[in-house]
Amino acid sequence: MGSLGDWPEPVVCVQSLSEKGELVIPGQYIKPQSERPSFCLKEMNIPVIDMTSLMTSREETMKQISEACREWGFFQLVNHGVGIELVDRVREIWREFFHEPMEVKQKYANTPKTYEGYGSRLGVEKGAILDWSDYYYLNYLPLCHTKWPAHPPSLRELMEEYTNKILKLGAVLLKVFSINLGLKEDALQNAFGGKEVGACLRANFYPKCPQPDLTLGLSSHSDPGGMTFLLPDEQVSGLQIRKDNQWVAIRPAPHAIIVNIGDQLQVLSNSIYKSVEHRVVANPDKQRLSLAYFYNPKNDILIQPISELITLKTPALYPPMTFEEYRRFIRTKGPRGKFQVESLKSQR
Ligand code: OGA
Ligand code: NI
Repeated sequence: MGSLGDWPEPVVCVQSLSEKGELVIPGQYIKPQSERPSFCLKEMNIPVIDMTSLMTSREETMKQISEACREWGFFQLVNHGVGIELVDRVREIWREFFHEPMEVKQKYANTPKTYEGYGSRLGVEKGAILDWSDYYYLNYLPLCHTKWPAHPPSLRELMEEYTNKILKLGAVLLKVFSINLGLKEDALQNAFGGKEVGACLRANFYPKCPQPDLTLGLSSHSDPGGMTFLLPDEQVSGLQIRKDNQWVAIRPAPHAIIVNIGDQLQVLSNSIYKSVEHRVVANPDKQRLSLAYFYNPKNDILIQPISELITLKTPALYPPMTFEEYRRFIRTKGPRGKFQVESLKSQR
């Protein structure tokens, strides 16, 4: 551990903190009372969509997806065509990465400039309260010098295979969303920049936590991008979403990919679709691994409510802003930066 250049204070890797076996977590991880996990959770689950029924009972499935986007902002895809074996291998290879020796992982230590690589904090506010997790963040599209870890050796190839499947799934869903919103089927893909969409991913590692009631694995946030494809840990739960002002725990279906609407789709749909807040609670007994794949608009394209969705009764709720501009705030302010972006937007 030690200083990582432009971070405001030395970055502490949560995995090594956890492995020390202390019974008490450091003060920097203790959340204010109002943000700590509550235990009166609703027993509900997000809609499960079988992608093969998009072929066999198209109308009904389109309707299910439409309702999920409007009412939940979240759904789980089963029979998604990505391949059960592939999703299992992807999860496993990231688990292996996090179990590499610390010296290996530290070679990829990230900085707040791009966040790419191995890291543990989001945002650069000194003295900020931190989350009980580490991550590996990678930019994939637009094609660039992606900071791939060299170990495990097959990680890169596997992730390229997985990316191709996710990009296809993303394109299919953008079509479905466009039709469901009453738009031309390529409307959202074009709004995202056509073929020039962005893609990046974050593998999240949540070490065991001795005081899970006082902290969070990942603070409440909504995803800033277009939409997210999440591979949750199948053995260890932890993901919760906010529904009607209550936290709902998600129980993933076997081999499911969880899809959620990001902020950019909320803007494009003029808030017909919701980018819903979610968080991850820490676990006292088990470590947890997840992989979030972010399917995003092109960086420099202006994102604003699609003109067909603006009416006298439903005026545009958001001014135009590029995704790049939007993301800059999130990156300096951490996951809660969104609320500051919103107040900035309303001042415009
Ligand atoms: C994320 C996220 C949830 C999880 O990475 O944005 O919300 O289950 N992850 O790890
Ligand atoms: Ni998220």
